[in-house]
Amino acid sequence: MANPALQLTGEVHVAVADQLYDDLALALAGAASDAVKARQAFHLALSGGSTPEPFYERLVLDPRYRTLPWEQTHLWIVDDRRVPEDDERSNWRMIRHTLVDHVPIRRRNCHPMPTTIDDPAGAYAEEMSRLFESLDAARGLSLLDGSPIPRMDFILLGMGDDAHTASLFPHSDALRETERWIANNDGKHVARPARVTMTFPLLNAARQLAVLVIGEKKRATLQRIDEQLRTGGPDVDALPITGVQPADGELTWYLDEAAAGL
Ligand code: 6PG
Repeated sequence: MANPALQLTGEVHVAVADQLYDDLALALAGAASDAVKARQAFHLALSGGSTPEPFYERLVLDPRYRTLPWEQTHLWIVDDRRVPEDDERSNWRMIRHTLVDHVPIRRRNCHPMPTTIDDPAGAYAEEMSRLFESLDAARGLSLLDGSPIPRMDFILLGMGDDAHTASLFPHSDALRETERWIANNDGKHVARPARVTMTFPLLNAARQLAVLVIGEKKRATLQRIDEQLRTGGPDVDALPITGVQPADGELTWYLDEAAAGL
């Protein structure tokens, strides 16, 4: 169901949560199949937080999604906390336990962020660059606005009550990143512990982005975004998620009825 009453930065899709997971899974499966057909690999980037957990469980348990091309999938992490990977605050830990441990993805195609080294962002960007450059020309780094940048095939994002997405918090330094693909984000505007995050240049280069938002407690934030977009346009500093606007891709918001205010 579309909700024309809510203006966001992309297409808005509203359904009850159970249906929403299926709709999202279908979009993901479509993107995976297109990517494998066109480039023989599927680059997927997933978020942490509590919202996507039931969705990851659905991907594992529902027989309809067993055909996802896990063996051709590269799994990237949208953002993480700078904690060891067995810390319960680690996004990679949650994604590993709910999804990775249960699907036939190759371990070498899983790319957790190296959260405990000195410069995780630099190392992660290098890993990405190495991998994309090693692919043949058709599958390698794409040129977007003249600069080479990896294009994720599908990125799943969430949204915090303060309108942050990934670990791009209101007024934080990483919001201003215009060149680097990954940033270490810390300081007084960042919810502790310090973070590593994909930046807008990388997010906005994606072929498909989905934002999954569930629950009544996110409703007021969606309404603030709607009002800001209608009256003044995107305000990346105060409402970071309004900076997610793919240059040459598609963005769909997946909202349950409670979040959408229906
Ligand atoms: C994280 C995320 C973050 C998340 C939002 C929403 O590590 O927490 O990647 O951007 O998507 O904070 O979190 P909830 O789903 O828990 O509300």
